[in-house]
This record gives sequence, structure tokens and C-alpha cells, in this order.
Amino acid sequence: MATQTTIPPTILSTSSPTDIASTCETFALSREEFDNLHRSAKEAKSHSYSPYSKFRVGNLIITGANVENASYPVTTCAERTALCKAVTTVHPPNSISWASKTLEFKAIAVATDISPPASPCGMCRQAIREFCSVEIPIIMFDGENGYAVLRLKELLPLSFGPEALGKEDLGRREDS
Ligand code: THU
Repeated sequence: MATQTTIPPTILSTSSPTDIASTCETFALSREEFDNLHRSAKEAKSHSYSPYSKFRVGNLIITGANVENASYPVTTCAERTALCKAVTTVHPPNSISWASKTLEFKAIAVATDISPPASPCGMCRQAIREFCSVEIPIIMFDGENGYAVLRLKELLPLSFGPEALGKEDLGRREDS
């Protein structure tokens, strides 16, 4: 039986200006945007409601954190909390145009307390796929000074999205 091999992402350092400069260049982010993603994703962790797992996850597209439930499967991950918040509170067409929604989110940041950094779960990867380009960088900050960055297409290869159902124009809203 073939064994599955996965290459762990390179762990970069938030204390290394060279690492940050290279990330910013690769993913077309300004240093200010990177710092804002870092600071805000970490800050979002403080809003985590995780009395059961004590595993705090902060997410930034718009900020969100995991919200647990005594009935564990009802828990909502930070990524989906943030996505739902963004989708339901940022009003298109000025901020998010559903017609070109894949261009609107530049990056997603996730912060956890563990090292190496945690990556979004499978369900969250698919949820991100609905609203973001497969090219979007997902920056995963750990609990110390490390981070890793992968594009959605690397975290979710051969993915299934709205276009497979003929929905390239999903949710297009005409100005009225
Ligand atoms: N969690 C997230 O918020 N995002 C993920 O991608 C994986 C897991 C949360 C859910 C739960 O509150 C805790 O982490 C432990 O699974």
C-alpha cells in the first residue's frame, strides 16, 4: 500500500524582517497589512469561547474566534465564524461584490497557541473555498514567533467550488 507523504510547510519567524518581507512580496501584502493580520488574528483569540477544548483559535478576514458548545459537534470554528461574520455584515457591492468575490479577500490569518502552527480543518477549508480564490494566502501564526503560509489550493487541492455547479456569478447583485 502506498504511503501518503506530506511536506510540512516551512516555519517562518515573525521576528525576522527578511521572512516577513519575503511573505509580503510573494503574497502581495504590505508590511502594514501583514502586521495588522498578525496583531488582529492574535487578538481575536482572546474572544475564543472554548471552555471544553481550551484550544483558542483566532481568525482574521474579519475577526472571529471559535465558539464551542457542550454538544461538541455544534462548535463553530474560528474560520467559519469569521467568514459568516464577513459574509453577513460587510455589505456588497462596495466592500464585497459577490460577482468578483474571489478578488476581495486578500489574505486569511489564523492564530493558535500551539507550535508548529495549526492549519484550518477540512470543513473550514471548504467554507473558505466558497468565498475566496484558491490563490488566497492563509497565514497560520503559532503561539510563539512562528508562522507558515500556504495558498488555499495547497491546503485543499482538487477542490470543489461554486463554478462546478455553474455558479460563477453566485449571489451577483445588481445595483438597485
Ligand atoms: N478549531 C477551529 O477554530 N478551527 C479549526 O480549523 C480547527 C479547530 C477549534 C474548534 C474547537 O473549538 C477547538 O479548535 C478544538 O477542536
